[in-house]
Amino acid sequence: MDSKAAFIFINSFFWQKTNESLSKSEEDVICGIWEEKTYDQISEQINLSSQYVKETGPKLFKKIEEILGIKVSKKNFKPTIEQLWQQQQSEQARCLFHSDYPTISCAQILTNPFLPLTGFVDDPELFFDRQPETREIFALLNSGSSVALIGERAIGKSSLLKAICREAPTQLLSPRQPIYLNLQQLENEDEFYTAFCEEVGISQCRGYLLTRELRKHRLLLAIDEVEKMTWDGFTRKVRDYLRGLAEGTNAPLRLILAARDPLDSLFPDSQNLGMTSPLAGICHQVDLGSWDEATIRAFIASRLQFSRLKPLPQPVIFTEEEVLHLIAVSGGHPQKLMKLCYQSYQSYQMIRKDCRGEAFGG
Ligand SMILES: Nc1ncnc2c1ncn2[C@@H]1O[C@H](COP(=O)(O)OP(=O)(O)OP(=O)(O)O)[C@@H](O)[C@H]1O
Ligand SMILES: [Mg+2]
Repeated sequence: MDSKAAFIFINSFFWQKTNESLSKSEEDVICGIWEEKTYDQISEQINLSSQYVKETGPKLFKKIEEILGIKVSKKNFKPTIEQLWQQQQSEQARCLFHSDYPTISCAQILTNPFLPLTGFVDDPELFFDRQPETREIFALLNSGSSVALIGERAIGKSSLLKAICREAPTQLLSPRQPIYLNLQQLENEDEFYTAFCEEVGISQCRGYLLTRELRKHRLLLAIDEVEKMTWDGFTRKVRDYLRGLAEGTNAPLRLILAARDPLDSLFPDSQNLGMTSPLAGICHQVDLGSWDEATIRAFIASRLQFSRLKPLPQPVIFTEEEVLHLIAVSGGHPQKLMKLCYQSYQSYQMIRKDCRGEAFGG
């Protein structure tokens, strides 16, 4: 890490905590200390009195102790900050590559705003606009229908399911308690009923007892990774049961199910022998597709806003050529777009290290 990068890193903490950047003279003193200059050499270089620089150093160390909670001196300044940087990098790598890692918050996005790269987005500030689909889903739920949200891998189904649960209290005309269950984490029907009862807040039961208990509740049940219901451990019974509880305007359950394939192709047994079609028959399908060009542009612009909030010398701006490339290569697939933007942003940061200032738009 060079002295400028070290300053940007330290300054980002001040910005986050106080919404203020360090001053230009403080920046110069930090850079000088980083480059292992004496206070006299620093004062000569930046044209400030030696007395002033000698006072600024210790004052800065005190401020750093208050903001970062670490004790630094001129002697241990560089190794201590470098160690902090390393810690943050490995923490961030964990965020990036482990989808089960708790959601990254805006405050954590110190170096790249195009996150998360994997896993659902459950931080409302990082969830980007799925307004048309959200509107359609709430219109269906409010009309008494259940919903099957269908879309290809990593298109944003889980993220939208989470958003629907978050918005349910304000968007549902008659209130329902939102419950999110991810079948990926459940092995079989027993675990499904256990998790369901736990989430509803009732003691564990099944069959008629559960039906009787649920009559007292109005729930919006969001089930993610519904394809798991085709696996061993799940039978058609659980689907029949859910359908039975979700029929009718005032039914205890309203369902929103997420899967990669339509329900009737996931559960072809439903059409056999003229049986009723559990789930598919009561769920209106909403297809979750890629973002169109306007949405891609709005997404990029909103994420680049994060870099404006940061204490960078100049915010990063993607050129029109780059944006067109991102649109063409991602095809509007949110995760592909996120990864491509992440790489583009990363390359700006690399350039900044080499020739600060030249690589940025206005
Ligand atoms: N609305 C969104 N806002 C921001 N990023 C999104 C959004 N939707 C999808 N993404 C990006 O796509 C990635 C995958 O999202 P998500 O896990 O919700 O998709 P999925 O369709 O549920 O995936 P899977 O098919 O693996 O279950 C996220 O980590 C994020 O990078
Ligand atoms: Mg998912």
